[in-house]
Amino acid sequence: MRWILLGPPGSGKGTQAKKLAEAFGAMHLSTGDLLRQEVSAGSDVGRQAQAYMERGDLVPDQLILMMIRGRLAALSSGQGFILDGFPRTESQAVELDRMLEGLNLAVDHAVLVDVGDPEVKKRLAGRARLEGRSDDNEAVIERRLDVYRRQTAPLIAYYDQRGLLLRIDGEQPIESVFAALERAGRS
Ligand code: AP5
Repeated sequence: MRWILLGPPGSGKGTQAKKLAEAFGAMHLSTGDLLRQEVSAGSDVGRQAQAYMERGDLVPDQLILMMIRGRLAALSSGQGFILDGFPRTESQAVELDRMLEGLNLAVDHAVLVDVGDPEVKKRLAGRARLEGRSDDNEAVIERRLDVYRRQTAPLIAYYDQRGLLLRIDGEQPIESVFAALERAGRS
């Protein structure tokens, strides 16, 4: 399994990526989780990324690519991967193609976890109550949705044109979304 998970904030990319990684023995790479770890560690990358994340803007491509390059290169041969929240801009997608080509690897599918804004807002409000993530507040959620539409949604066409796009209805319960993904992963 060599998959990219695409979808708006709160669509369930992280939830499904963890389950898929376990079921398929693939490496789960979430740029959001990696950035939050860098912020908690107070690292250089974390200090540079924090303000962008708190506003709901994308972190600059060069920081993201620096974080992801070594991790992809460290994949053991034959190991699958699930990219969660990366790529998020066309230039990240182009750079990912280049990195994978250098490693003699290719993506099998870019999977769009399709969820509409009302459901996304409901889920993120629920997560804000449970986990208190600093970017899960109303103003920043609006910003993240806007950034998604302008900068990330164009990747749907990017992967569709390459014959790699799979759409999954992400508004179903977690287990039903997972069952659909698992079927796609085994076919
Ligand atoms: P990131 O962490 O990637 O945030 P996001 O894309 O906004 O995604 P979320 O983590 O909010 O949602 P998700 O789709 O993973 O849903 P989840 O499974 O958690 O990025 C954060 C920030 O980092 C960005 O804003 C940006 O600044 C920066 N960044 C990250 N990557 C970057 C990149 N490549 N380039 C530049 N900047 C980058 O689910 C959400 C909630 O819904 C949970 O409570 C879950 O339990 C619930 N849920 C999930 N599925 C279902 C379901 N089917 N039914 C009901 N509830 C569900």
